[in-house]
Amino acid sequence: MLDDIQRELFTKEELAAIVSRIGREISWDYRGKNLLMVSVLKGSVVFMADLMRAVTEPLSIDFMVVSSYGKGVKTSGVVKIVLDLNIPLEEYDLLIVEDILDSGKTLSYLREVLEARNPKSIRICTLFDKPERREADVTPDYVGARIPDAFIVGYGLDYAGKYRNLPFVGVLKPEIYE
Ligand code: PRP
Ligand code: MN
Ligand code: MG
Repeated sequence: MLDDIQRELFTKEELAAIVSRIGREISWDYRGKNLLMVSVLKGSVVFMADLMRAVTEPLSIDFMVVSSYGKGVKTSGVVKIVLDLNIPLEEYDLLIVEDILDSGKTLSYLREVLEARNPKSIRICTLFDKPERREADVTPDYVGARIPDAFIVGYGLDYAGKYRNLPFVGVLKPEIYE
């Protein structure tokens, strides 16, 4: 698995520092609110688990399973909700937790779907943002790091379902997916 990585982009320690910084921002912003963190699976599984423990305010969590990339390195453009939330959202201040914002198709679609359910407020938190790849109009409220356009894996991010268990984030060797 490690042989498939070209270079490490974020070490375990760098990721931990990013997560604790965002955790502090969220803790501050959501004082006195009714925070519901919604993790967009599968990619955000690792980030979510760490981030929720970096928030010091009371919160609830829930999960959705959404998929658009499948086995490729390019979005299919079709965002599929594989598993939906099954609670009413009116009483919650919703925070959507994503691992990466790339074309923006996943988050623009999700935001629209969840906004229609009238939460008290809705914000987006993404660990990584690739602004130069944006096709849909989405602006994240919390960003861990802006990254260049390289195919990255690890810390929840996959290629064809693999590499999610790497504890760091690395650039995949192009020969793996070319
Ligand atoms: C990836 C990633 C984001 C989305 C970002 O999910 O986890 O959810 O794509 O890309 P976009 O901004 O171009 O829509 P993927 O569809 O690969 O599913 P996964 O989370 O199960 O890996
Ligand atoms: Mn995803
Ligand atoms: Mg994926």
